[in-house]
Order: sequence, then C-alpha cells, then structure tokens
Amino acid sequence: MHAWICDNPIGPEALAWKELPTPEPKAGEVRVAIRAASLNFPDLLIVQNKYQMKPPLPFVPGSEYAGVIDAVGDGVAHLKPGDAVAAFGGMGGFATHACINAHQVLPLPPGFTFEDAAAFICTYGTSHHALIDRAELKAGETVLVLGAAGGVGTAAIQIAKAAGARVIAAASSEEKCALCRDLGADATINYGSANLRDEIKALTGGKGPDVVYDPVGGDLAEPVFRSIAWRGRYLVIGFAQGSIPALPLNLALLKGASIVGVFWGDFARREPQRSAQALGELAQWYAQGRIKPVIDQALPMRELPQAFARMGSRQVRGKLVLTND
Ligand SMILES: NC(=O)c1ccc[n+]([C@@H]2O[C@H](COP(=O)([O-])OP(=O)(O)OC[C@H]3O[C@@H](n4cnc5c(N)ncnc54)[C@H](OP(=O)(O)O)[C@@H]3O)[C@@H](O)[C@H]2O)c1
Repeated sequence: MHAWICDNPIGPEALAWKELPTPEPKAGEVRVAIRAASLNFPDLLIVQNKYQMKPPLPFVPGSEYAGVIDAVGDGVAHLKPGDAVAAFGGMGGFATHACINAHQVLPLPPGFTFEDAAAFICTYGTSHHALIDRAELKAGETVLVLGAAGGVGTAAIQIAKAAGARVIAAASSEEKCALCRDLGADATINYGSANLRDEIKALTGGKGPDVVYDPVGGDLAEPVFRSIAWRGRYLVIGFAQGSIPALPLNLALLKGASIVGVFWGDFARREPQRSAQALGELAQWYAQGRIKPVIDQALPMRELPQAFARMGSRQVRGKLVLTND
C-alpha cells in the first residue's frame, strides 16, 4: 500500500507519499481498499498541529473515505469482502488502504458513488445535527449560513432547504454566492464587498435571521449575532477564519437568543443511535435527489498537497476529493 505520512506536523509541505506494508485487520476491524477520500478542515489543522486532537507521530491523515472492504478481522460478521462502505472517524484515509473498526463504517446503499460517499458523512452529519437537532429549525424560518460555499456550508444550504426554511447564504465572493444560488439559496450576501449587517437587515425586513450557521467565526460573529432575530439560535460550528470570537452576553439577553454549541463528532460518539437515525434520513434524502455533495474537484490521491493548498487559500467550493485508480 501507499500512504501520505506526517512525521513533522508543520503543514502539508512536510507530508511524504510512501510505500508501507499493507496492514492486516485486527479483531473487530475491516480493511478498506480506498477509492475516494475527502478533505475536511480539521484534516488541515491536524497536519499543522493546530487541532485539539494531536495524534502520535508518525500518522497517516485523512478522516473520511469510501471504498470496498478487501479483508475482515476476527469477529466481524456483518461485513464481508466486496462490500462498498464509507468511513469516518479514524485516521489513515489519505492512502490506498486503511484498517478501521467495523462499527465506524457505513455500508453504502445502492446508487451512492464513491466520490459522493467520501464527501458525505461529516459535512451532512454536522449540518443535520446543527440545524435539525440543535436549532430545531422549522419550515418557514430564515437561516443565515456563513462560509456558505464551503464543505459544511453547502450541506447546510441543502439541508435547510430540504427542511422548508428560507436560506440566506453569505460568502466572500460573487462566484461563491452564485454557487450558493445554484444550490437553492433564496438570497445571498457577498461579505467580501457588502456590509453584512445592512444586507441582513434589508433581506429580513429588519427582523434578522431565526438561525445563524457559523463555521467561520473571527470578525463575522459579533455583527451577525447583533442582527439575529428575537428567540434566534446562533450555531457555533467552527472558526475557519482562525480566531475564536468573544460575544457580549447582553446581546443574548436583549434578543432572547441562544448560543448553541455544535460538536458533531462527539454527538456521534455519545449518541450513536440518534446519529445513525440522522445518517439514515440523510441517505434517504440523497436517494431522493434532495441533497448531493458539491464536488469542487476530484484529484488523484498523489495531489494531496495541492488540495491542501486550495483549502488553505480559501478557494474550495464544496468538497475536495482525492481518488485512487
Ligand atoms: N462543529 C463541528 O462538529 C464541525 C464539523 C465539521 C467542520 N467543522 C468546522 O467548520 C469549519 C468549516 O469546515 P469545512 O470543512 O466546511 O471547511 P471549508 O470547506 O474550507 O469552508 C470554510 C469556509 O470558511 C471561510 N473562511 C473564512 N476565512 C477563512 C480562512 N482564513 N481560511 C479558510 N477558510 C476561510 C471560507 O468561506 P468564504 O471565503 O466564503 O469566507 C470557506 O469556504 C471548520 O472550522 C471546521 O473545523 C465543525
């Protein structure tokens, strides 16, 4: 097998593509011949040593992938070689093969492509948990999505529309806004050029959005929180801009608003049944054509450094996928 090895977490430039002995699955594990893997923002943070989880060195990055099982360890009865699966949670996805606990893989329903499956679980799982579970989004409510052309952002647009909400998508360029409109956003705000608060006011008749989905943080958070509607829910998703914002709590009091933390990975670990239910609903929506991952580019696995550079320079629209032949 081949894999991208990180033995010096100073950034993607220190990764090396190496040949390794193909591992045998231990008891309870399966080995997946990886057909496609996708990039999530934490994959970049991990190789830069900036993520909360710091794996021992050396490690193979890549937390999300899809492929075909080619070996099973002792005690695995519900999966067999030849099964198509998607996996999330372990490391090791930026490679040709990976071993993972059999309970961390999801058998793929018919009709799922490997590229879509590799780009599905994390972004759609996060946005479903955030909007449907944590914010209790209702049909007819207005959702403002920041960083809306990115991975979790594009999933949030589609899920909010599937739930019957009105979506205002906000992103840093006109091209990104155009993509969001193509995905069904009812209105867009280009915060690269427009005044965010004025635009939110104009697009909501002064009322503000009922739900804010914020994967960007930094200097966008406070102006947006100041614009939220009465009884609004502000979803703390992530801090792609790099800095963790602080909010004056009197704003929450004045709006009767909630600041709602979202940690999908821990939700899936702590509440596996609810998480499986949500993924089941998402798989149905995929089969019905109501949601579909936006693939920015599918690059050969060997081009991982270029993919990381594209993500780090804010160019990705939707998801970046790496494929093995
Ligand atoms: N809470 C959870 O459970 C959970 C789960 C998954 C991901 N996340 C978090 O959600 C965030 C987004 O993840 P993602 O996979 O969707 O990433 P992504 O596809 O790269 O999207 C991030 C978006 O953030 C915006 N951004 C603003 N400043 C940026 C900067 N300096 N560098 C890069 N992007 C910047 C960009 O949109 P504009 O150019 O339009 O501003 C970009 O499209 C990350 O912080 C990630 O850790 C959280």
